[in-house]
Amino acid sequence: METVKYNESLELDEYIVGSDTCLIYFHGGGLEAGSKKEFNKLALVLNENGIDCYLPNYRLYPNAKYPDFILDAAEAVAYALNKRKYKKVVIGGTSAGSYLAMMLYFDKRYLAKYNINSEKINGYVFDAGQPTVHFNVLREYGMNHKRIIVDERAPMYYLNEKVDSDVEFLVFYAEFDLNTRREEIELLKHLMINYGYKKENLNFHYMVNNRHCEYTPTDFFNETVLEFIKKLRWLTMIKEILEKLTLEEKLGQLTMIPPFFFIKDLKKEVFGALTSLKLDEEGVFKTGSVLGIQSHEEMNVVQKKYLEKSRHQIPLIFMGDVIHGAVTIMPTPLAQASSFNPKLVNKGAVASASEALKKGLQVTFSPMCDLSRDPRWGRVVESYGEDPYLNYVMAKETVKGYKSEGLLSCVKHFAAYGLSEAGQDYNTVDLSRLNLFEYYLAGYRGAIEGGADMAMTSFNTFEYIPATTNKYLLRDVLRKELKFKGVTISDYDSLLQTIYHRTSSCDCDAAIKGIKAGLDIEMATSSYMRCLKEAAEKDPKLLKLIDEAVLRVLKLKEKAKLFDDPYRTRHLSIDSSRAIDAAYNLAKESIVLLKNKSLPIKRRTKVSLLGKYATEKHVLGPWSWHGDPKDTDELAEHINAGYLNSSEYFDDYDIESIEKTDHIILAIGELYHESGEAHSKADVNLSNHYIELLEDLRKLKIPITVILYTGRPQILTKALPLIDNLLVHFHLGTTTSKVVADTIYGINNPSARLPMTFPRHQGQIPIYYNRLSTGRPYSKTNPYTLKYLDVQNEPLFEFGYGLSYSNFVYSNLELSNNQGDLKSLPSVKVTVTNDSNISGKTSVLLYIRDEFASIARPVKELKQFKKISLKPHESKVVEFKLTKDDLSFYNQNLKKIVEPGDFTILIENLATKFTLN
Ligand code: BGC
Repeated sequence: METVKYNESLELDEYIVGSDTCLIYFHGGGLEAGSKKEFNKLALVLNENGIDCYLPNYRLYPNAKYPDFILDAAEAVAYALNKRKYKKVVIGGTSAGSYLAMMLYFDKRYLAKYNINSEKINGYVFDAGQPTVHFNVLREYGMNHKRIIVDERAPMYYLNEKVDSDVEFLVFYAEFDLNTRREEIELLKHLMINYGYKKENLNFHYMVNNRHCEYTPTDFFNETVLEFIKKLRWLTMIKEILEKLTLEEKLGQLTMIPPFFFIKDLKKEVFGALTSLKLDEEGVFKTGSVLGIQSHEEMNVVQKKYLEKSRHQIPLIFMGDVIHGAVTIMPTPLAQASSFNPKLVNKGAVASASEALKKGLQVTFSPMCDLSRDPRWGRVVESYGEDPYLNYVMAKETVKGYKSEGLLSCVKHFAAYGLSEAGQDYNTVDLSRLNLFEYYLAGYRGAIEGGADMAMTSFNTFEYIPATTNKYLLRDVLRKELKFKGVTISDYDSLLQTIYHRTSSCDCDAAIKGIKAGLDIEMATSSYMRCLKEAAEKDPKLLKLIDEAVLRVLKLKEKAKLFDDPYRTRHLSIDSSRAIDAAYNLAKESIVLLKNKSLPIKRRTKVSLLGKYATEKHVLGPWSWHGDPKDTDELAEHINAGYLNSSEYFDDYDIESIEKTDHIILAIGELYHESGEAHSKADVNLSNHYIELLEDLRKLKIPITVILYTGRPQILTKALPLIDNLLVHFHLGTTTSKVVADTIYGINNPSARLPMTFPRHQGQIPIYYNRLSTGRPYSKTNPYTLKYLDVQNEPLFEFGYGLSYSNFVYSNLELSNNQGDLKSLPSVKVTVTNDSNISGKTSVLLYIRDEFASIARPVKELKQFKKISLKPHESKVVEFKLTKDDLSFYNQNLKKIVEPGDFTILIENLATKFTLN
């Protein structure tokens, strides 16, 4: 039997806390209908927790007419507010009661009838109902489903419904069997028709979850409602805690320092220079969070010592960079993006989360969603590449993966850090608001919609103000535009770096600017603790900002379950087998085949295995501080080499031995520390010694396969003609060597695509596929058009490029309708055939080109994609449904709009047109 669990991710707003709130529960027409006993149980718990609970006296299905229901319900609310003098009412219900609550909430007519101020009402539905029905109800109200949140137990519904994060109404789902559903939907239809809707306008779907879930009111109340109540209780407690804290203690909660400040002999694990903290021991033991911890034991030692000394007993929260795996190292984010497989990315995040939790961390500083178009920038390897939509999808899946295990996450670096000028880390960023909204926000938005709990500011400036003290970014963009509700944190030392930006005159100026801008936690420096008390005495308005920030931090700690269990004693043993599977499956789909004349080869083929990666164990990538190269294999362990030499110089080789083999595998590239933070390069050409080596090897007339290990796109223009087969990957983590060998031998058929464009020449940087047309696009016949004198315009490999051992042929690109309005957007169908004898996977990418608009639009933009598997000679029809979002863009007033006109839909080599009326 499966029971219904409370969705832990739900954010309950402060205002439903406390004894001035009443919860009104509308029971349904299903199993729990009329169960006074159950209701009484609920009422009892609510009362015990200082919340009054009221059951409106409406008549029960099937006899009642719908408007009567609503009036009864509205009357109940009026009673609570006017007679019982509650300040707030939370309405909610189960089953048909949930629809009732929704209608009451969204249709203000009934509230108005009783002079109820709708702002006093907050809606939460404990539902046993169908998401689709809820969406339809909202649609009927013209609300679309913008303001509704569903929890993850109904994943199948997500496939059809894009849920926006603009949450106003929370719906908990339980799963039910078909018969109950049918009754409920019939009831709803009946109610809505009575309510004046035309039958033909009602569009109800039935969807039955494959899993049968036994459901009883008792389970529901016990699991869902009691958990909800527990959450309310914590929130009440947190508010009480806040009231008891001194100002110094509050400021401590807004400060993060590394663990070695608490315990002297702890190993230094953090990166970057730590500015001298300027805190005494008493100050250190007032801080609220810890950056980086090596193990669960270490975390416990620090927590214990901290709590022994702490007056207020608020546990420390431990955060760290689990960017692509904790113990088992996953492919880097850039490699993960190459998979175009969000499901595997999600599984990778789930596995990383469970290991990170066992390592003693509660928050990871991931995902990094900085759109990256410049391969010189060392941090492209931490990113999901150059496409906004791919960033959005991957960031969202990553956060959802972390969250499903209970690891909190921090999206970073807000904002537009990826645009660092000339690819130099920490450099200036300059972009328009429109560019920010249209392209750079997508990744952060994905993470926030996925449920990211924190956001980290970036090192750069935006509009000449450092992001860490940028009120526009932190309050207007992050909180208002992106609806972020969590905690903000500076990057390492970035608050005091505003002094080097020369926008803060001193530590205290930086601290005041930070808190005013909306920066909650200061990482690795202590200006809040040292300066804000005095500043607040002079300017008491700061107190409110400090309280808001502290409350958010306390909620975060509650979310991390630290008040329940500061030592996080659950799930301690690390069993990495699940993580290794996840890493292997993801890595298999993250290796990109860029050229192929003779792969795969047979195991019995005699090979020479050359290059440093033949025997290198550090294949983990740049953010693998918890990973151990000892846990990896050398490539040589997986390839039966007739000749093995890890030198990269021709003169070191025994040529006779190479000549006895039939294939050369050259495993070369950048080491893990040649990319990542502070590892930018001015020259991203494939190193010249490799070109010389390839030229010499070429003379032997033996087929050459290059496996390029790299943290960024490199320029391969000179190398490409010297190579028969080219596999590239952006560091695949623990299972690298097995995956590389399996790919060479055809056990794995590559299916990845490039998440970043590979330039043909360094001078083309930045180069990305979704550029604008310009007023003088290149023309062969007109010299005064967009071009170079010395290099052609096209990159060597564009975003999305990637081969397979199968041969996929695309045909029959069709739209269900070639014109229509926003209510009749077409389905797009395309046939993909595997014209080969090898099973394979491929990602079908759907691009759109807006042919004419009031502002210049890119030559094409990725809008949707699907990864499919095809057996030899199998064909599949892949279908996409175009959405309003696919056709819209931000205008100069930063409003998202759609303009009628022609749109070209492009899939692979095919194109067709849709006209929006
Ligand atoms: C990096 C962040 C990282 C932080 C904490 C900074 O230097 O820019 O990405 O999360 O350090 O380790």
